[in-house]
Amino acid sequence: EKPGLELAVVSVPSYACQRHTPLLHHNTILTDALSILAENAELSENEGRGVAFRRAAALLKSLPQEVRGAEQLRGLPCLGEHSLRVIKEVLEDGVSHEVETTMHSEQFKAMKALTGIFGVGAKTADRWFREGIHNPSNLQRSGHTLNRAQRIGLKYYDELNLPVTKPEAVAIGQIVERAVHAVLPGAEITLIGGFRRGKQTGHDVDFLITHPDEGREEGLMPKVVSWLEAQGFLLYQKTTGNSYLESKEGPARPASNMDRFERCFSIFRLSTDNEGREIQTGDGPQTYSPTLTNTDPHTHSDTHPHSKTDSHPLPQTLVVVGDHAQKVSRVLGHSQCSGPRSWRAVRVDLVVSPYSQFAFALLGWTGSKLFERELRRWAVHEKAMTLSSHALYDRKRMQYLRASSEEEIFAHLGLEYIPPCDRNA
Ligand code: GTP
Ligand code: MN
Ligand code: MN
Repeated sequence: EKPGLELAVVSVPSYACQRHTPLLHHNTILTDALSILAENAELSENEGRGVAFRRAAALLKSLPQEVRGAEQLRGLPCLGEHSLRVIKEVLEDGVSHEVETTMHSEQFKAMKALTGIFGVGAKTADRWFREGIHNPSNLQRSGHTLNRAQRIGLKYYDELNLPVTKPEAVAIGQIVERAVHAVLPGAEITLIGGFRRGKQTGHDVDFLITHPDEGREEGLMPKVVSWLEAQGFLLYQKTTGNSYLESKEGPARPASNMDRFERCFSIFRLSTDNEGREIQTGDGPQTYSPTLTNTDPHTHSDTHPHSKTDSHPLPQTLVVVGDHAQKVSRVLGHSQCSGPRSWRAVRVDLVVSPYSQFAFALLGWTGSKLFERELRRWAVHEKAMTLSSHALYDRKRMQYLRASSEEEIFAHLGLEYIPPCDRNA
């Protein structure tokens, strides 16, 4: 056989947070197969099984070359019996019977379609599936009472399942920046989640907001949300966080150990008007053209008479050309709303963190989900430390370890620094 097949000679560390995992790797056929099984396990609420498949896939993603035979996998960590069996099958037959069966099963297809509705989790989807509801149209006709998130999720089903592109993420970022700076000058906005890891598309866009003067960030989210709402940028929002609860529901609640940041799950209304200007998607240079869009009958100017006299500029227009634009307009053209329109719905997550916790929040919200899980597992099992998106606690020295950068957190944990683009585990 060809040289270079002795792939396992270099030892591969067993925690994903010890490895570089780029977005593009050499074993996509294998990792796609394992991801289906992971997804199926997660949809069946079998978390342990899901993690096992995810760990096996992440190991393959970190390998420096394509695996061509099962013998190359000897000595590698993270590959359980089940994952190995699937890998061998794919290597030998090109497909795995189990993966094919799973992919084409009514249950898997239905669970994917139903959990693809914003606001619908595995539990709800499973209940509906067992009532014979297999897709959004079944649900629509079922007469089930839906909550506000689910109603919005159903209404914008197609476009919320259309990937968000990098140019769209950048355009959303400009809107978020305007909103944040309007209510708190000097605040800093960072793109987090998959886009920070270098992904070219995402299921949403995630932002972390902070201010160098600790304390200034308190209560920021409701103000940002009000500004966005007044400008007509929001189709949906659900804000959670201490200050919000204080202002809306009286005395502060006991703080939990869980994420206590101010957060906002939202759906933005992003203009996609093409008024002769150009934006290139793909590899070319990207330029953005702010234009006024108050001719759009859907804009807020109908319902918010103040907006025209407002000193803030009107919603910015994103002009996208090429393949993605065609896909977007096809979906918008077929939407159940009022015919073709010049904006699309985009899922956006906003998080506000105090400056002293910024590095932890940045690390915790950049992902990937498996990379985060592995960091926390490493901290507990190898270092007797507890890592969260707020802090790092050393249980032996019984003290919190401060950090003002991700590099410092990796150093505290005794790990080589892994840049965001290599956290795609
Ligand atoms: P796409 O959006 O599909 O491109 O992938 P993504 O990696 O951006 O995923 P997502 O937006 O779901 O999450 C981004 C990061 O935020 C991930 O690392 C998650 O682990 C993290 N995250 C999501 N929800 C929570 C949460 O409730 N608490 C904390 N601490 N982290 C979260
Ligand atoms: Mn994301
Ligand atoms: Mn998100």
